[in-house]
Amino acid sequence: MTICYTLSQFYDAISLVPKGYEVGFVPTMGALHQGHISLVNRAAADCKIVVVSIFVNPTQFNNPADLEKYPRTLENDCEMLEKAGATIVFIPSIEEIYPQKDNRIFDLGGLDSNGEGPHRPGHFNGVAQVVTRLFDIVEPKFAYFGEKDFQQLAIIRYFSKKLNYPLSIVSCPTVRESDGLAMSSRNLLLTPEHRKVAPAIYKTLKKAAKIATAQNLSQICPAPQELTKWVISEINSEPLLKTEYAEIVDSISLCPVKSWDEADEIQLCTAVFAGAVRLIDNIKLK
Ligand code: PAF
Repeated sequence: MTICYTLSQFYDAISLVPKGYEVGFVPTMGALHQGHISLVNRAAADCKIVVVSIFVNPTQFNNPADLEKYPRTLENDCEMLEKAGATIVFIPSIEEIYPQKDNRIFDLGGLDSNGEGPHRPGHFNGVAQVVTRLFDIVEPKFAYFGEKDFQQLAIIRYFSKKLNYPLSIVSCPTVRESDGLAMSSRNLLLTPEHRKVAPAIYKTLKKAAKIATAQNLSQICPAPQELTKWVISEINSEPLLKTEYAEIVDSISLCPVKSWDEADEIQLCTAVFAGAVRLIDNIKLK
């Protein structure tokens, strides 16, 4: 495994790749866990060359304190990547990625209007800035993203297609702890008390999915808005958790639905504060 810190080191390493070898790319912000490793494993199964980037992208943090406290575990990350079969790890500095201020504003097709969008202004534009910059550098054939970031995945699919990137976006299922909590680098920041109650988020999503499936079959209430209210009150009934939003959306447009027959595919997405730590999760309802 080759570790590169600069663009020129990266270009040297990638120039050694034999012609015709497919490059799979896993962009990350480090603090790696088994969710990231599942992406690397999938990339290694699909491609001879697996590039992983570790870059905590400042332009996608709308809150400076969040950027400051984002966990950084570089040594451990590299050990995990070596074991998982990564070929090249790219760990650029901010100057390498943004030699000048990035002023690009992306067309996100309105997919940032709901969910995370209003709560994290500029976040998805920052994701588009860094992901396009990394795609331009790495030029992968496949790029891998987790379904935990459901909205991010939809937005990356949208702008990659719109900008004609010659690559496929591959989505991989959310990896969970044994108690159901979605794996996230932010879990490292939870206090023991908050870690204990955090699984209530996914438990509630699963209950909601059960209710929704039953109601799809029997055509009885509750409507999506009622179920959303129930999800919020159920999560908030745990005093250490506070729901920022819960939305039942069309999986393609990401717009909230008013009825179950409004869309072919429907997803329930939520963001919840466990103390100062903001956790997101989602589940397919239809
Ligand atoms: O999902 C993430 O970790 C980040 O948003 C990404 C895609 C690596 C861009 O910084």
